[in-house]
Amino acid sequence: MRIIALTNQKGGVGKTTTTVNLAAALALRNKKVVLLDLDPQAHMTTFFGVDPNGLEKTAYEVLTQSLPLAEGLIPIRENIGLLSSGLDLAGAEQELVSVVGRETILRDAIENYKDHCDYVFIDCPPSLGLLTLNALGAAEEVFMPLQPHFLSLQGLSQLLETVLLVQRRINPPLRVTGLLFCMYDQRTSLASEILRDIEHFMLQQREVDCPWNAVKIFNTRIRRNVKLAESPSHGQTIFEYEPNCNGACDYQALADEVESMVEGPRQSETPAVHPETAAVHPETAAVHPETAAVHQDHAGEIVTDTEVILDPAEDHSLASDADGTAGGDTESGSIDDSVEAGVETATGGSSGLDIHQAEGTARPE
Ligand SMILES: Nc1ncnc2c1ncn2[C@@H]1O[C@H](COP(=O)(O)OP(=O)(O)OP(=O)(O)O)[C@@H](O)[C@H]1O
Ligand SMILES: [Mg+2]
Repeated sequence: MRIIALTNQKGGVGKTTTTVNLAAALALRNKKVVLLDLDPQAHMTTFFGVDPNGLEKTAYEVLTQSLPLAEGLIPIRENIGLLSSGLDLAGAEQELVSVVGRETILRDAIENYKDHCDYVFIDCPPSLGLLTLNALGAAEEVFMPLQPHFLSLQGLSQLLETVLLVQRRINPPLRVTGLLFCMYDQRTSLASEILRDIEHFMLQQREVDCPWNAVKIFNTRIRRNVKLAESPSHGQTIFEYEPNCNGACDYQALADEVESMVEGPRQSETPAVHPETAAVHPETAAVHPETAAVHQDHAGEIVTDTEVILDPAEDHSLASDADGTAGGDTESGSIDDSVEAGVETATGGSSGLDIHQAEGTARPE
């Protein structure tokens, strides 16, 4: 079973469209897929023609009332089970603020899910709040859909920072495994420049011990296709709505690539990097200090833009040092300090890519 969070805190980049249609492509190949709608906007839920109002067993109940995942799943299509979202999910972040272990509730729910499935896809909201942290705490892999715009690059930087922190603090096996360009127009030079810069940056990161050093930039690019924009209003996947359009072809090609990654980044239960022994150095964070969405405050708590707190005092079994500093081989113990201490070597690409690379620890052979 592969657990994959599709996330990007930037809105409207194609997360939900990709989650639905990639899942549909895999389900047509007889793969058993579970979809978790963690977005209070409930776009994925409505995408499948389900009215999110008035549902009694949703992600909200799983997160706040210990509803077992199996009881919340709606058999939405052959081979696809959907945990729907509802508007009350927005309140879950507030309700869970004082709950111990709040950022690993989803992970526990998935671990307790006994039924067999091949893929769990988590559609995240466009934010880095507690719902997204739960997704990152539960996932093994992150796929990041992005549009080839300059502003997407800032989003990439922030997301990598968040993944690094979650990976070090609560979920060591977490890896960013896929970057997917959506609404791609190869005729524009900006798209190819940004693609080239990201490829260059990721190539440099191969030798750095960080959770994105083995990321695959999918060869498939999801082209802009009006049928993909139309299909949700019919409550249909692209394969139901227009199975021969470019959008359907692109998502089939993506499914080929995703299946070919089947060995997955995590081949054993032993994480490649453990927070307490890791050669991960905070200076490997591919972030610019001024754009970092996550900070560590004076008490050692990690605080995101949405002020969701990962409590370092909790025993996540894989958690951090007792003093609340980030786990790992940190020297200063402070993310902010470390990032600021990082040596910035901007890739300086033609698109103005502002992802700064710091000196990292070479990955041990
Ligand atoms: N390849 C595409 N071609 C044309 N339209 C697309 C394509 N992919 C997505 N869209 C449309 O773009 C809009 C945003 O897509 P989507 O809802 O998948 O993004 P999102 O990242 O999930 O957004 P949010 O952050 O709000 O959850 C939707 O109206 C969708 O139908
Ligand atoms: Mg969405």
